[in-house]
Amino acid sequence: PATPEPINDDWPGYSLDLFNYPTHYSGDLDCVIIPHGVIMDRTERLARNIMDDLGDHDIVVLCVLKGGYQFCADLVERIKALSRNSNHTIPMRVHFIRLRSYLNDQSTEDLHILGAEDLSFLAGKGIVGTGKTMETLLQHVKAFKPKMIKVAGLLVKRVQHSLASVPDYVGFEIPNRFVVGYALDYNEYFRDLNHICIISESGKKKYKV
Ligand code: HPA
Ligand code: MG
Repeated sequence: PATPEPINDDWPGYSLDLFNYPTHYSGDLDCVIIPHGVIMDRTERLARNIMDDLGDHDIVVLCVLKGGYQFCADLVERIKALSRNSNHTIPMRVHFIRLRSYLNDQSTEDLHILGAEDLSFLAGKGIVGTGKTMETLLQHVKAFKPKMIKVAGLLVKRVQHSLASVPDYVGFEIPNRFVVGYALDYNEYFRDLNHICIISESGKKKYKV
């Protein structure tokens, strides 16, 4: 599928004053890097690409919580809408697992996978995973030999090291900065923000643990 134009490192983002956002976060954010509407528009297109590729396979969606819940829910909604409006509708089931590896804005070494003990329901099915790509998780999923595995990620960060596994469907390529909103958190805060934003230094301090 077509990869989107990257959001460059020098992209200043949009001023927060242009948008509506919860006032309890005023001062905690530097800028909006992807407004909610743009996320939705891009997700609609990803849904179409997924439908085009999967043909008439059943889909088992494996949603990676917590950060992936909003993207997963919106992507599933779009796939459902396309399916309703087409001649061959595609059965879709949704499962959830949970990953946790971040403390403050730093990735920690230990990756916790919760709820992945039994993925045998995957056997013989195509998957679209959502959330961040994780080699560990992919290895785990592959062991169940699904017919097809596709990974959808809303965001891919430009990091120098290890782009070993790039999602099959990428919403946006963004600078290697810590972002929040649209279910992405900083110590559990900011999930209740619709836009994807850059957290400010004072925001980091305020919600540090
Ligand atoms: N924001 C929130 N959670 C994350 C990020 C991020 O930029 N990167 C990895 N987990
Ligand atoms: Mg998190």
